[in-house]
Amino acid sequence: MPKDTLSVIDNRTGKQYELPIESGTIRAVDLRQIKLGDGDQGLETYDPGFLNTAACRSAISFIDGDKGILRYRGYPIEQLAERSTFLETAYLLLNGELPSAAELDSWVFNITHHTIVHESIKKFIDGFHHDAHPMGMFVSTVAALSTFYPEAKHIQDETSRRNQIFRLIAKTPTLAAFAHRHSVGLPYAYPDNDLSYTGNFLNMMFKTTEVKYTPNKTLERALDVLLILHADHEQNCSTSAMRGVGSSHADPYSAMAAAAAALYGPLHGGANEEVLRTLREIGSKDRIPAYIDRVKRGEFRLFGFGHRIYKNYDPRATIIKRIAEEVFEVTGKNPLIDIAVELERIALQDDYFVSRKLYPNVDFYSGIIYEAMKFPIDMFPVLFAIGRTPGWLAQWQEMLLDKDQKIARPRQIYTGPDKRDYVAIENRG
Ligand code: CMC
Repeated sequence: MPKDTLSVIDNRTGKQYELPIESGTIRAVDLRQIKLGDGDQGLETYDPGFLNTAACRSAISFIDGDKGILRYRGYPIEQLAERSTFLETAYLLLNGELPSAAELDSWVFNITHHTIVHESIKKFIDGFHHDAHPMGMFVSTVAALSTFYPEAKHIQDETSRRNQIFRLIAKTPTLAAFAHRHSVGLPYAYPDNDLSYTGNFLNMMFKTTEVKYTPNKTLERALDVLLILHADHEQNCSTSAMRGVGSSHADPYSAMAAAAAALYGPLHGGANEEVLRTLREIGSKDRIPAYIDRVKRGEFRLFGFGHRIYKNYDPRATIIKRIAEEVFEVTGKNPLIDIAVELERIALQDDYFVSRKLYPNVDFYSGIIYEAMKFPIDMFPVLFAIGRTPGWLAQWQEMLLDKDQKIARPRQIYTGPDKRDYVAIENRG
């Protein structure tokens, strides 16, 4: 009769141990009993970058990287992109179920009525240099929100948690758009509650002298779908930052500022910005082979390619390619799409990419759409952050309610010197 256990023989001592296997994992702390003797703290695992370590149980998103599957709370991403809205998907992520019509109305009402930020936030943004990166302004102003809502530190209070969730989902587009307006020297445009979540974001971004901004329906929907695609993605770098900082019981604004900072990096949410720079640098299809050769020589990475979990086509990239066509019917074709498609074709025939299972990820095509919609390149990571906000908050809430969770505190293998005595400065060689 097969048993759900793992038998381990420690060849240093000849002792045998039996470790329980649950959900395809062993508990790392079970290894501590494997010791050389008294004074030995027991066996640890070494896993830089967490390649093979589950840090939590989570019921929010599911990825099968070999098959290219992504689901939120069990619902395939393709169905949500086709039939849901960003705010409905946010509700699903945070509450576990799709809302009833009444629940959705109340959810949308609450978020719509928290979009305004305190006037002092404008003063913070005014203080940034004119060429400050919008993601830097975004990270800082999300952190600053914690000073406006001191009750946010009552993280065990369900009502307080709920209010901060409304505020964060509602205010991220406002902070993002204000950061953009500061960059381009335009007056801040205030939220318009008559518009949808994405319609209002487009209003705050692009409104100029018109009395009432009317978003283009196709672009409004395309942006909504892009936000759905970015809404959650299991324990990625920024989500781990959200959980890690949240595990010290910091308030959600501080934790989310940390998550957004993690997203900013070019290996994560900053990749969409890098893809556009790459495509512009390549400039024409005939220069693609030479560029790919440089990637293969290890000079730099091909941004928008590769993923820790997906070893097949990223399902989000497939949906984004389709949205691109719809957007281009309104905006006209972004000529960079031809270079991107050809770059993908050449890369996917090349053994370097095939053998390493490097496929286009969500960031490869998203920037081309954003650019066609007139978003400046440095706003791309900020758009990713708006989309990821409900996922970060859902993961933060799940972490707080999980009895297994503790403050994040990995172990280390110490490689420094043994004990030695302090040497007075005059005696140092
Ligand atoms: N271009 C060229 N080579 C690559 C790339 C790439 N984009 N990605 C991975 N490789 C190579 C890497 O050099 C290594 O080769 P070797 O085995 O010869 O040393 C091999 O593939 C495995 O790479 P890795 O760095 O061990 O893989 P990882 O799982 O640690 O990294 C990644 C995942 C996403 C950071 C990486 O693929 C990458 O840097 N991609 C470019 C940045 C990017 O597009 N990021 C967005 C990810 S999707 C959105 C998000 O969730 O953030």
